[in-house]
Amino acid sequence: MGTVILGIESSCDDTSAAVTRDRQLLSNVIAGQEVHRKYGGVVPELASRAHQQNIVPVVDRALREAGVLPGEIDALAFTRGPGLLGSLLVGTSFAKGYTAALNIPMIEVNHLQAHMMVHFIQSEQSSGSSPSFPFLSLLVSGGHTQLVLVRDYHTMEIIGRTIDDAAGEAFDKCAKLLGLPYPGGPHVDRLAQQGEALRFKFSKPRIEGYDYSFSGLKTSFLYFLRDRQKEDPGFIETNKADLAASLQHTIIEILLHKLRLAMKHTGTNQVALAGGVSANSGLRLAMEREAERYGWELFIPPFSFTTDNAAMIAITGYYRYLKGYFSSDDIAPLARMYF
Ligand code: KG4
Ligand code: ZN
Repeated sequence: MGTVILGIESSCDDTSAAVTRDRQLLSNVIAGQEVHRKYGGVVPELASRAHQQNIVPVVDRALREAGVLPGEIDALAFTRGPGLLGSLLVGTSFAKGYTAALNIPMIEVNHLQAHMMVHFIQSEQSSGSSPSFPFLSLLVSGGHTQLVLVRDYHTMEIIGRTIDDAAGEAFDKCAKLLGLPYPGGPHVDRLAQQGEALRFKFSKPRIEGYDYSFSGLKTSFLYFLRDRQKEDPGFIETNKADLAASLQHTIIEILLHKLRLAMKHTGTNQVALAGGVSANSGLRLAMEREAERYGWELFIPPFSFTTDNAAMIAITGYYRYLKGYFSSDDIAPLARMYF
């Protein structure tokens, strides 16, 4: 029969529900929110409202696609944090009502840990191989950039983190300066494929240890564009692809520099990518080259598991279920949540 978990994700601007049976993914439904596009970023209040509208239909569809009846669900896993509080409240409240009605346990999941657990999902899209412990995870998303040593399904240690902007934020903020729609990461990726990556140079941070910094790059990009546009107002339009490629190249170089140091420090030879930015084709390619050069075993998630999704919440919930890590019914979401 197996253990059936219903996963719920509502930390930012995607409402998602997924069903797993043991490690096997049965469905993963994601409703994105178009409403934020015209504001150039996520508007928290609009996000909560859209979650409220989406959550019941999304769960319904996830169950139908999985061919699972509510009575067959063993536990519900939900994102407790980190994220936007109003968005998290929708998922948490739904979890409370649903589990009370079905008399099943409720399992809190840390969104960031869940991103790193995607390599354990079995699905048609997955390669079938999972990392063994310990492995190093490069978690790159819109809100976070971290190097994490994953010791087991529940024990993860942050080796390095960004001290200011996340890598996804660097993509999105610089993309905005290029006049690209939000979120800009995928647009930069697409443009970069036709551009020359070594044409323009932007500043790279010099900070100690394994921490990251991306705010200097954003400023250097801004001033560079401002100066060039003074000489030629059409500079961005005529050089867009080269600008995107050079920007992407710089972000990847920054990411890989600290990754190399952290791999050496931890002594592991397994590395896994996670988070929205791991959809970036340049980063994937660069990671493959690095892995070949240093003899690393590399795990890259399928595209469908890179950005926010409930499959990652369900699989994390499954491993917590096996340990009996259940939440009590007075639980509240956390905008900041550590592990
Ligand atoms: O993990 P995620 O869906 O949400 C957070 O938890 O933050 O990540 C979203 C981020 C955005 O900044 C988006 O621009 C970036 O991932 N992203 C990309 C690509 N696809 C998504 N960045 C670069 N290249 C891509 N192909
Ligand atoms: Zn995320």
